[in-house]
Amino acid sequence: MFQHEDQVVCSNELQDNLDDESFFQDIDVLQNHGINVADLKKLKSAGICTVKGIQMTTRKKLCNIKGISEAKVDKIKEAAGKLSSSDFLTALEYSDKRRMVFRIATGSQELDKLLGGGIESMAITEVFGEFRTGKTQLSHTLCVTAQLPGKNGYSGGKVVFIDTENTFRPDRLREIADRFNLDHTAMLDNVLYARAYTSEHQMELLDCVAAKFHEEPGVFKLLIVDSIMALFRVDFSGRGELADRQQKLAQMLSRLQKISEEYNVGVFVTNQMTADPGATMSFQADPKKPIGGHILAHASTTRISLRKGRGEVRIAKIYDSPDMPENEATFAITPGGINDAKE
Ligand SMILES: Nc1ncnc2c1ncn2[C@@H]1O[C@H](COP(=O)(O)OP(=O)(O)OP(=O)(O)O)[C@@H](O)[C@H]1O
Ligand SMILES: [Mg+2]
Repeated sequence: MFQHEDQVVCSNELQDNLDDESFFQDIDVLQNHGINVADLKKLKSAGICTVKGIQMTTRKKLCNIKGISEAKVDKIKEAAGKLSSSDFLTALEYSDKRRMVFRIATGSQELDKLLGGGIESMAITEVFGEFRTGKTQLSHTLCVTAQLPGKNGYSGGKVVFIDTENTFRPDRLREIADRFNLDHTAMLDNVLYARAYTSEHQMELLDCVAAKFHEEPGVFKLLIVDSIMALFRVDFSGRGELADRQQKLAQMLSRLQKISEEYNVGVFVTNQMTADPGATMSFQADPKKPIGGHILAHASTTRISLRKGRGEVRIAKIYDSPDMPENEATFAITPGGINDAKE
């Protein structure tokens, strides 16, 4: 009888724990479930810092971590499974979860409108376009606007910028900060910068990013990769290496997607375009297309194409979004960053 009541209390407590299952549940809690500190350290060095992170990683990948045996993986998976509910949610419960999603303003209200409020968290947003269409300028502007409190209770936060083309310029951030009357030093201090030199390095940096996000839970709001494909294009050449490239790319995108959900941040990536050699033969309206193929197309939650208008005006078009219609918006590249175009 007593035992039964105890069990009830126990399962209620468990339920409560599940309910306020914090977003950033550190894997250290697994110590209470028989996982030793040394193994937890190994997981962390592989960029897996949260219980959710364990659930998002396959057994095979966990086994590949040095010093983690198959038997240990089973134990770790089991412990993680106990701590967080990976089962079905009702649509109502899921809708509650989605309430944590925030949007980061772009500096142009027109562009924000097109995006349904701005760059969405827990998702990958990709912009692609030819050179000088404003991809890097938009990336710079977001470094600043992400720090500003925004609509619907968005608090503002820090940004990580991964630069693969050596086009990041802190001085541009200063100019943009002036538009919003921000202190240069404090603003620059909130942007973590890393230059990636190879596609492998780019992938390794994501482990560091995860560690940073984990160190300061809830502080980072945006991860920018400008550009996502540049190094892949260099590191893999020709048709012979295409399959390999796409496989590595898929791994990187999957990592980005997981990071965005695990830490509730926006992931913003830029992409280049290429002429489609088959296009002249067919009746395609737009002979140029973003590179990265189907892998990138499916990984991006929202895709935006940019093209040049007159002078500093640029036109953005929603290319592919789960919940936005295929509209267009115009904006301008100004000294103060991305802004609405003057009529
Ligand atoms: N300080 C500034 N004030 C106003 N416009 C600027 C400023 N700096 C750059 N621009 C404009 O931004 C445009 C370049 O945009 P950006 O570098 O974002 O292109 P991109 O899409 O990243 O190109 P790429 O594919 O070569 O990387 C140019 O038209 C340039 O005139
Ligand atoms: Mg650029």
